[in-house]
Amino acid sequence: MPQTDSLRRDSVSVDLGKRAYTIEIGEGLLEEAGALIAPLLNRPFTVIVTDENVARFHLKTLETALAGAGIKYASIVLPAGEKTKSFAMLADLCEQLLAAGVERRDRIIAFGGGVIGDLAGFAAAILRRGIDFIQIPTSLLAQVDSSVGGKTGINTSHGKNLIGAFLQPVKVLADTKLLATLPRRELAAGYAEVAKYGLLGDAAFFEWLESNAELLLRGDAQARAHAILRSCSAKARIVAEDETEQGVRALLNLGHTFGHALESATGYSNRLLHGEGVAIGMVQAFRFSERLKHCKPGTADRVAKHLKSAGLPIHMSEIEGSLPPPADLLNIMRQDKKAEGGKLTFILARAIGEAFIARNIPDSEAVSFLQEDFERK
Ligand code: GLY
Repeated sequence: MPQTDSLRRDSVSVDLGKRAYTIEIGEGLLEEAGALIAPLLNRPFTVIVTDENVARFHLKTLETALAGAGIKYASIVLPAGEKTKSFAMLADLCEQLLAAGVERRDRIIAFGGGVIGDLAGFAAAILRRGIDFIQIPTSLLAQVDSSVGGKTGINTSHGKNLIGAFLQPVKVLADTKLLATLPRRELAAGYAEVAKYGLLGDAAFFEWLESNAELLLRGDAQARAHAILRSCSAKARIVAEDETEQGVRALLNLGHTFGHALESATGYSNRLLHGEGVAIGMVQAFRFSERLKHCKPGTADRVAKHLKSAGLPIHMSEIEGSLPPPADLLNIMRQDKKAEGGKLTFILARAIGEAFIARNIPDSEAVSFLQEDFERK
């Protein structure tokens, strides 16, 4: 249940029994991280895992906060970018964590965006057969999505997030002040995941976003806090119901079947950020839903118009360079974790706010849709 106190601090609990934890949301939480983290540690020692960009702006603040609470720490700074979610970097990180003296009962801190959260979380899941970790997400994408719910992992040449583990963090601290240093492109990419919550299950939230996205993207603290709280509350509800994605959690993959294939096809490079792939993928999911007569004509255009106004790409033609033809994109999609018996599963929609899981979509339908979508300009 969400709670808000008078200092504009919000708290959302992820109700997972013995593995339950809270997401704290608010401005300036990083400065208080020492006091908030100290009670979670079994000894006053931790390791911060972060990337070069976050380190440049915010590492000192976290280190000072930990030191102020009497916590000794080591900091590991990795290269920024999706390519860091690799086997090679995982091995390197595990070696560095062991060299720093991390013991079985220690808790490490994933301090960064989705890449650092997924990689550090996966390292925690396998280090000494499993240690705990704390998430301090620094990007909008991580604050509303990837830091919550315990999905950790890396990419492989076969596709996105194909190696990983479920490991819930013991705490999430989302300091909304950190979003001020995000480049506009990163902020928009994260916004795609915010819009996702409206599109998949909350039409009223999507309407609110249609009126308030500009405010939020310009930096309005109240609009940001509201959107993050609403997104985290939606995610917490879904994760509590279906932690390991046996059913309803798959809805959180709206736009991701197409998006992950595009990310893979562009080599996890700067050509396409994860959230941008999700934005294009969500528009495709609605267009595909219209084509299959699940949803009213015009719905995809409304989705596209909104995402475009937030500065997001909405069509494959906006990706620089060439893309593989539809049949090859479909082959990349076959590695999607939702595929069953070689058949693809898509998250489609009956309307804005009414996504559903569509299994057994014939390949021929998906290829003709992609062909048609390629030709659309
Ligand atoms: N980002 C999708 C999920 O956490 O299930």
